[in-house]
Parts: sequence; C-alpha cells; structure tokens
Amino acid sequence: MNTGAPFPSDFIWGTATASFQVEGAANEDGRGTSIWDTFCRTPGRVAFGHTGDVATDQYHRYAEDVALMRDLGLHSYRFSVAWPRILPEGYGERNPKGFDYYDRLVDELLANGIEPAVTLYHWDLPQRLQDEGGWPERETALRFEEYAKTVFDALGDRVTRWITMNEPWCVTFLSHMIGAHAPGLQDKQAAYRAIHHVNLAHGLAVRVFREGGYEGEIGTTLNLMTPRPATNREEDVLAADRAADRDSRMFLDPLLGRPYPGRHLAAHPDVSLPIEEGDTELIAGRIDFLGMNYYNERAVAYDPDAPEQFTRVPSYHPETRMGWPIVPDGLYRQMHWVQKETGGIPVYVTENGCAYDDRLSDDGTRVHDPERIDYLRRHFRVLARAIEDGIPLKGYYLWSLIDNFEWAFGYTRRFGIIFCDYTDLRRVPKDSYYFYREVIAGHEPI
Ligand code: FCB
Repeated sequence: MNTGAPFPSDFIWGTATASFQVEGAANEDGRGTSIWDTFCRTPGRVAFGHTGDVATDQYHRYAEDVALMRDLGLHSYRFSVAWPRILPEGYGERNPKGFDYYDRLVDELLANGIEPAVTLYHWDLPQRLQDEGGWPERETALRFEEYAKTVFDALGDRVTRWITMNEPWCVTFLSHMIGAHAPGLQDKQAAYRAIHHVNLAHGLAVRVFREGGYEGEIGTTLNLMTPRPATNREEDVLAADRAADRDSRMFLDPLLGRPYPGRHLAAHPDVSLPIEEGDTELIAGRIDFLGMNYYNERAVAYDPDAPEQFTRVPSYHPETRMGWPIVPDGLYRQMHWVQKETGGIPVYVTENGCAYDDRLSDDGTRVHDPERIDYLRRHFRVLARAIEDGIPLKGYYLWSLIDNFEWAFGYTRRFGIIFCDYTDLRRVPKDSYYFYREVIAGHEPI
C-alpha cells in the first residue's frame, strides 16, 4: 500500500551532484583546467585551501555510488558534465577519455534503472575560456553552444532530461560582482554583461537541441529568490516584489520573452546589457520545464533609504550549518509565484537539502542526522501540498547524494545523505538515506 499518497506514481525522486564537487581525478585522463581549479589555488579563496583534486573520487567510484542509488530505490540522478573534461581547452580538441567516462556513468545508471538528468554547466568553466574573457564576453556563449551540441551528440541517445545552466545568479552576481565564487571578480559591469551572455548561452543550447531533433526534455535551473514581505502592509508587499527583480527576474523574465526588469535597471544607470538583435527571441526559446533550487527564504521590508527601497530583516527561523533559515513554506510560496509569473510551467525541484555537522557513530557504521530528516520531511510536505494544489511538479532532486566539495567552504559543509569519510573515501549511508528510501517506496507517511 502506498501511504505516501499525494505523490503520483510517475513522480521522480532523485538526488543531485555536480562534476567539480564529486568527481576528483582533476589531473587524470586528459581533463583540462577549470576556473575552480585556479580559484582553489588562489590563497584565501577556499577554506583551508581545499581543492577538487580528489573530491569524493566519483570518477573512479561511480559504480559503487550507482549501487548505493539502486539500493535507495532512486529514480533519477542529476549530475553535471565537466566541460574541461571533454573539451580541455573549452573548444577544439576533444578528450576521448572524458567522453568515455560519461558514457560509462550513463550506461551504469541505465543498467540499474536510474534515469540520468544532465546539467551542462555547473560552474567549472574551462580556464582557457576565462583567459579569453569568460562570461562577460559574448564569445563564451558561442563556445557554450558548440559544447552543448557536442554533449547532445555524445549522450543524447540515452539522456532525456537536460538542464542547460545551474543557478545563473551564482554564475554572475556571486562570481563576478560579489567575488565569492570563481573567477572571483568584483566588477559590477562585468556581472551584468555575464548575465546577458549566460542567458544567451542557455537560449543557444535550447535552439541547438530543438534543431538537432534530440529526444527528451530541456530546461534550466534557477535559484530564485522570492523574499516574503515582513508584514502585510502594502509597502512591504511592494518591497518584496521589487526584491525579486534583481535576483530572480533578471533571469526569469528573458526566458519568458519579456524585457529585463526595467524597474531594476533604472536603479542602476551605471550598467548596460550587451543585447544584440535577435537575442531576445533566442533566449525565449520554449523550455519544457523550469528547475528550481530551493534552500531558504528571507524576509524584506520597505526602506525608503535603500537603493531599491527594500531591506532584509531578521526572522525567527532556526538555521542550518550554512546559516540558512529553514523555511519550508517559502518553497510553497515560490512554487505558486513561479506559476503566476510564468502563466504555468512544469517544474522540478532540482536541488533542496541542508548541511549539518554529521559525525560517524563510534563503531563507524552509522551517521545519525535527525535534523536533516526533519528538514526533508517538512519540505516533502510542501511538495505534497503543491501537488494537491495542482502545481505541475514533476520531481524532486535532493542535494546531495553524498557529502562533497562545498565551493568556498571546501569540505567543511556536509550536505549528503551519504557520508563521505575524506580520510579513506569510504561511503556510509546516513539515517536520512534510509529515511529517503522509505519515502521513495511510499512507506513513510508524509
Ligand atoms: C547550490 C549549488 C550546489 C550546492 C548547493 C548547496 O547553490 O548549486 O552546487 O553547492 O548550493
């Protein structure tokens, strides 16, 4: 009997990872250098100077990981292709061993009844392309188009779910303006140029996909930020709406064929977007779904002195080890927001999860992570409510399958439902892994 009633039988339960965070084998089999290899080696950028050289070593241990996925009853595994592993310089010469790796991984997944869901860009830009200007340059979007076609040609006979970009907000604002992620720039104009080119790259990849007649569905993944108004006062409601302009509508509106949010751009006359003729139509090519990465929701209030008249205000919610407030209802609100803004679009939650200071039990066989189970259960309830409301939510990818390299935090933040012992790379399923297995099987009332 399926007691997890609200989830339709074709609902996809998945987990997600990204190449740089799990693969390792950074200097093996012809992989080129990415901007994250460089960033890790730049003093002060990544905690303890951690690197992706070994990571969880999924490059060598993928079969073990797929076996763990099978035992979990997983339906789908979202992973990303490392651009410099297949095209070491970003374009031109191909690396056959890189292609072989993704062939083996995809085949292993399929042989175990697990659907691959492939992200084309999860942040490991080939260093060569950065040296030529990176995302602030239009050329990078054109290179991405070639790369996308190469991957579709290599895996398109077996992969039927594609995600062009992971979190353009991070690729642009976080990496080019705030400078916390590779390439670590603090250059506002570069960030806005990057935004247009990342959006364009997505559109080019979608066009290539449609024209190539590949089977399956294609979309993109955004980390939307849709803060809630601190109160129901009209000015706070308006402030919250304005707050979504920069972090969400700069990426979502062009996908929908709308101009970039004018209200936001008017507040920043010092930046310009390098839009060329035809770009708007290209970026707005039809997508089959929108991927949503959801971790938290903040509150904002009206502030007449702030640049765009809103300011973030504190809330009572307990936080995870990332310092991110736990607000499951924010996901519910955000799913409704997406439906309203888009006029209705199928969605996947392509990432959701939490970091805690997980520890091995004394005998080294178990990891008890009740906070994660609680976090997940509360978010699963929201998924169920959304489905009951009629939201076309097709699946959920938990971040993450296994502890991994958490970007600027290095290995100091554990998001996995499988523990990775970084001393010997041993995998130990956490309690949350067993919990997820019950949920997937429909045995756990949500
Ligand atoms: C997201 C990233 C993902 C992971 C989680 C915790 O922003 O897409 O790679 O680091 O955060």
